[in-house]
Amino acid sequence: MSVTTATKEALAIHGGTPVRKTRLPYGRQSIDESDIQAVVDTLRSDWLTTGPRIAEFEEAFAAWIGVQHAVSFSSGTAALHAAAFAAGLKPGDQAITSPLTFAATANCVLYQGATPIFADVSPDTLNLDPEKAAAGVTPRTKAILPVDYAGHPADLEPVFQIAERHGWTVIEDACHALGAEYRGRRVGSLSHMTVFSFHPVKHLTTGEGGMVTTDNPGFAETLSQFRNHGINSEARRRQTAGQWQYDMVLLGFNYRLTDIGCALGLEQLKRLDSNLSRRRQIAARYTAALRGIQGVNLLGVRPDVNPAWHLYPIRLELNALSVGRGEVFSALRAENIGVNVHYIPVHRHSYYRDRFGYKGGEYPVAEAAYEGLISLPMFHGMSDHDVEDVVKAVSKVVTAFGR
Ligand SMILES: Cc1ncc(COP(=O)(O)O)c(C=O)c1O
Repeated sequence: MSVTTATKEALAIHGGTPVRKTRLPYGRQSIDESDIQAVVDTLRSDWLTTGPRIAEFEEAFAAWIGVQHAVSFSSGTAALHAAAFAAGLKPGDQAITSPLTFAATANCVLYQGATPIFADVSPDTLNLDPEKAAAGVTPRTKAILPVDYAGHPADLEPVFQIAERHGWTVIEDACHALGAEYRGRRVGSLSHMTVFSFHPVKHLTTGEGGMVTTDNPGFAETLSQFRNHGINSEARRRQTAGQWQYDMVLLGFNYRLTDIGCALGLEQLKRLDSNLSRRRQIAARYTAALRGIQGVNLLGVRPDVNPAWHLYPIRLELNALSVGRGEVFSALRAENIGVNVHYIPVHRHSYYRDRFGYKGGEYPVAEAAYEGLISLPMFHGMSDHDVEDVVKAVSKVVTAFGR
């Protein structure tokens, strides 16, 4: 792919011709006939929810990851809440996490009445900086939630060392990182609990859905009860065994994933390897083409990881541009490139500012990174032509706004 950055073309936002006639979304599911058939078959079966597809999906998922237990949930957020509960977080406790994440990562700590403590990110990967995390330790810290930003595994080994030293639970938010590898092992088999999301823009979708993986049977049992009102047995098993008794042993929720969702997930799982390799190809094309464009910086990739590329964020070098990120964002949208921004740092949301008194400036690396971040379209159904359009548009816009 060759990109010409020398000439300034009229931008679509200024009345020029857009790079694309139709909008390319930033993320999109891919559904094929086998997915549709599996869902239809389930709709015709006796079980729409909490039937046989749940265990099938969980077992297949656990086998794919290489972990003992996988417990499904109605969303990644519900899965995070359950993991925070299983970790024993309670009022008065604290848990450390990254500010550069979706709010759900920190919210799950709040759901338990505990307090999220943010620690700044590393400048290369924008993942939780273990040294900053170590500096946030107090006697009340009980857990740490590293986030695998964009699909690049967090710096896990130092996180595990701090956690082990202090007896904390590690809840890895791998909602971006299904299929990522850290030091040759799949994400999901490393932390005490790892959380995945099956939202349609992810590597695998169940509509809405999530999963927690763990090698700890105690966590697995608590997680299964928590998603089912805190009840110690499933309705289907009672029905099959001809029993009506059950006991509610803890205060849980209805966070169950449906059989319909699991049937879809099982089919999608069959294509996960090919979806992942396609995302890696797209990322490699982006990296090769964008590396040389002045005004654009890329995320670092550490040598001990194989990222899953949920997102492909670029970092604008604002000093090299005559405008801010907002103008570049709008200009790319006008070129019909569906860009997005991940993330407004969590502590900058009104709720966190009002409740915890954040003023801004507390986490300078995350906050400076945020000012220049733009997520380019990244989904496994993208064609090479789509990738070229994105590169063309980025080059066109950044060149036009170059100083
Ligand atoms: C990092 C991160 N954590 C948690 C979630 C929540 O997942 P869900 O949308 O499945 O509730 C998301 C969703 O996008 C996410 O990106």
